[in-house]
Amino acid sequence: MTASRRVLVVGGGGREHALAWKLARDGAEVIVAPGNAGTAAVGENVAVAAADVAGLVALARDRAVDLTVVGPEAALVAGIVDAFRAAGLRIFGPTAEAARIEGSKIFCKQILHRGDVPTAMFRDFRSVSQAREYLEAREDMPVVVKADGLAAGKGVFVCADRAEAIAAVNTLGADPQFTAAARGVLVEERLDGVEVSVLAITDGRTIVTLPPLQDHKAAHDGDAGPNTGGMGAYCPTPFVDADMLADIEARILVPTVHAMRRSKVPFHGVLYAGLMLTAQGPKVLEFNARFGDPECEALMVRLDSSLLELLDATVDKRLETVADPVWRDESSVTVVMAAEGYPGPVDRGRPITGLDAAARVPDVQVFHAATRLDGGRVVADGGRVLAVTALGSTLARAKLQAYTAVKEIRWPGAWCRKDIADKGLRRAHELLAVEAGDATA
Ligand code: AMP
Ligand code: GLY
Repeated sequence: MTASRRVLVVGGGGREHALAWKLARDGAEVIVAPGNAGTAAVGENVAVAAADVAGLVALARDRAVDLTVVGPEAALVAGIVDAFRAAGLRIFGPTAEAARIEGSKIFCKQILHRGDVPTAMFRDFRSVSQAREYLEAREDMPVVVKADGLAAGKGVFVCADRAEAIAAVNTLGADPQFTAAARGVLVEERLDGVEVSVLAITDGRTIVTLPPLQDHKAAHDGDAGPNTGGMGAYCPTPFVDADMLADIEARILVPTVHAMRRSKVPFHGVLYAGLMLTAQGPKVLEFNARFGDPECEALMVRLDSSLLELLDATVDKRLETVADPVWRDESSVTVVMAAEGYPGPVDRGRPITGLDAAARVPDVQVFHAATRLDGGRVVADGGRVLAVTALGSTLARAKLQAYTAVKEIRWPGAWCRKDIADKGLRRAHELLAVEAGDATA
C-alpha cells in the first residue's frame, strides 16, 4: 500500500537518519536533504540545505514528493511548513507561528499560562537593564536566566544566586547577536528534580503520546561540563511510569494543544516537552516543536508499527483514525560519539573506521549525525558525529550492546559519555528493591 510513497526528510543529523531509516522500513522511497553518509545508505541524498526553503519546495515539486518531514527547528521557525502549504505540498510539522512554542520562550509561557500547565514561575523583561534592576531588588535565590528566541542551547543560564544571575544578564547584554535581535529576557524560578523528555504527535486535536525518555545534555559523565545538544538517550525511562505518563498527557500535553488551538495557533507535528519531575509533580522546562535528537534515534528503533501512517494521518488531520503505535518491549540506548572539541569548534574530515564491525553487533543501528562521504570513505563532519543505538531485552543489555558497538568505531579525537542510561539503571534498581520490600535499599 505504501510501497510507492516518496518522502522527503529535511535535515542532515542523527534524527534525520533515524527518520529516513524508519520510513524506508515502512516502505517509503526516501529523499534526504541534505542528509549525510548514513542517510545515503537508506535513501537518496540531495544537496539542498535545510535552510533553503525555496530550494526544498522546488525539490519536492520536481520529484513529486508525497510527504515532507522536517527535522531541525530553524527550518520550522523560518516558515518551511507555511511555504510548502502555500505551494500545495503535504508537510509534517508546525507553522512558523506555532513553532514559536520553541522559538520564543515568552510565547511558550503565555500558552502554558493559558492552559494552566505547570511550569516554573517567571518574569519577562523587554531589556537587559530591566532584568538587572529586578534581580537587584528581589531576594537572593537560585534562578534561571533565559534569552527569548532560539539560541541553540546557549541562551540559558542556570544560576545558584543573585550574583550569578546578574552576571548572566550582563553576558546577554554584551552579546551583539542578542542585542541586535532586541530580544526579551526571562528570569524564572529554578526547579529541582530529574529531567525527562516526553514527545507527542498531534494533529492539533488528537494526541499520540510516545514513550518517555531521558536525554543527557551535559558533555561529561555524571552530568558535568558544558551543555550540549544531547550526548545520549534511552527509552523508556523508569522515572515515568504509566500513571505519570497519563498525568503528563492530561495535565501538560492536552491543555497545551488546546491552548494553542484556542489562541488560533493550532499545532501539528511533534510537541516535545522537556520536563522537570519536581516534588510538586512534572513541570514544563521548555517545549520543542520537533523530534529531539538523540531522542528520535532511541524512539525509532522501538517503533514497530508504521511511522509513515502516523505522519500521514497527522498531515491529513485524522490522527484519531490511526491505531495506537506499537512499541517493542525492548529498551533502547543511544550513545552519541562526538568529535574532539565538541561542543566548541571541531575539526572536520577525519576518516571513521570500524563502522561495518559496529553494524554487525547484534541489535545495533549506527545512525550518522554529522558525516559525509569523501572519496568512498566516511569522514566526520561536525560535533555530534554518530548516534550509536541499540535495543536490549533490558536497559542494561541495551547499554552493553550500544557500548560494544562504540568500541569498534574509531577516528582521531572521538569521544563519548560512558554513563548513558546509568541514571535509569539506578532508578530501575531502586524500584525493584522497593517492590521486593527491601527496606534497606
Ligand atoms: P531550556 O532550553 O529552556 O530547556 O533550558 C536548557 C536546560 O536548562 C534544561 O534542559 C535544564 O537543564 C535547564 N533549565 C531550564 N530551565 C530550568 C529551570 N526553571 N530550573 C532548572 N533548570 C532549568
Ligand atoms: N536532545 C534535546 C533536543 O533535541 O532538543
